[in-house]
Amino acid sequence: MSEPLISASASGTFKLAGEVDITRLGYGAMRITGPGIWGPPEDPAEALRVLESLPESGIDFVDTADSYGPEVSEQLIREALHPYKHVLVATKAGLRRPGPDQWQPDGRPEYLRERALRSLKNLGVEQIGLWQLHRIDPAVPADEQFDAVKALQKEGIVRFVGLSEVTVEEIKAASKYFTVATVQNRYNLLDRQSESVLEYCEANNIGFIPWYPLAAGNIGASSDTISEVARDHGASPMQIAIAWLLHKSPVILPIPGTSKRTHLRANVAAAAIKLSDEEMSRLNALAS
Ligand SMILES: NC(=O)c1ccc[n+]([C@@H]2O[C@H](COP(=O)([O-])OP(=O)(O)OC[C@H]3O[C@@H](n4cnc5c(N)ncnc54)[C@H](OP(=O)(O)O)[C@@H]3O)[C@@H](O)[C@H]2O)c1
Repeated sequence: MSEPLISASASGTFKLAGEVDITRLGYGAMRITGPGIWGPPEDPAEALRVLESLPESGIDFVDTADSYGPEVSEQLIREALHPYKHVLVATKAGLRRPGPDQWQPDGRPEYLRERALRSLKNLGVEQIGLWQLHRIDPAVPADEQFDAVKALQKEGIVRFVGLSEVTVEEIKAASKYFTVATVQNRYNLLDRQSESVLEYCEANNIGFIPWYPLAAGNIGASSDTISEVARDHGASPMQIAIAWLLHKSPVILPIPGTSKRTHLRANVAAAAIKLSDEEMSRLNALAS
């Protein structure tokens, strides 16, 4: 008997900007780089195999950034997935990389434009499906950054636009310039600092992309509740963390990242886990 197909499609879909359906469980491509998110990954062949297996895993939404590597992640994505049949690649710019583990905001309009054009080249596309302002640079007036993003969209360099690490007030301010399709903030089962942002996204049908969804593979290591729920489902704490995000809100688009096919397979399988109301209340209570 053949193995049952494991597919991210069990996570359902979300209509990006009210226009394009994507499967809610996506993939984060930051970890297919070297230590400190710098240079090539330790095992480039396996990283390529992970990327190549995304479509057959039902994943059609891939998150990256010009700064991952820098450029390494975008270039590997191109090598593995171009011409992106049924895959929407979301990238970002606004963080400079002076070296490993170093990230410096740079929101000067000319820099954002240069980086968006560079992403077009790296990804081999004529238009970026979703382009996210990686950070609002506190050293540059926010209006100038939003204006630059608006111009990228008007010129057709980017189709949809998102923000990252923002407050509700910042989403409202940016919305005067363009439709905010997505917001990407740090959020997971044990880190709910962005709860009010999630609520705003849900009320306004903005996709909420929680980064660090697995606390870098450590989530649940010290939580009895997560371990118990995991055991009851014959699952891992990581899988419960993904299932919880998918149950928490229909606008949540988790993008767990991995450089290994075994982990990808486990993460995709989490899309089919059904958590009961009682399990959701216990898990919800963890961060309150
Ligand atoms: N907007 C922002 O500022 C921002 C910041 C950080 C990240 N991001 C985005 O968010 C994505 C996800 O965030 P993240 O990579 O920081 O955190 P994450 O998804 O919580 O963790 C990824 C780490 O968890 C490990 N892992 C994945 N699946 C696993 C499994 N089933 N079992 C055990 N370990 C597992 C991976 O190691 P292996 O490679 O060994 O599997 C990897 O090191 C990134 O890829 C990136 O696209 C955005």
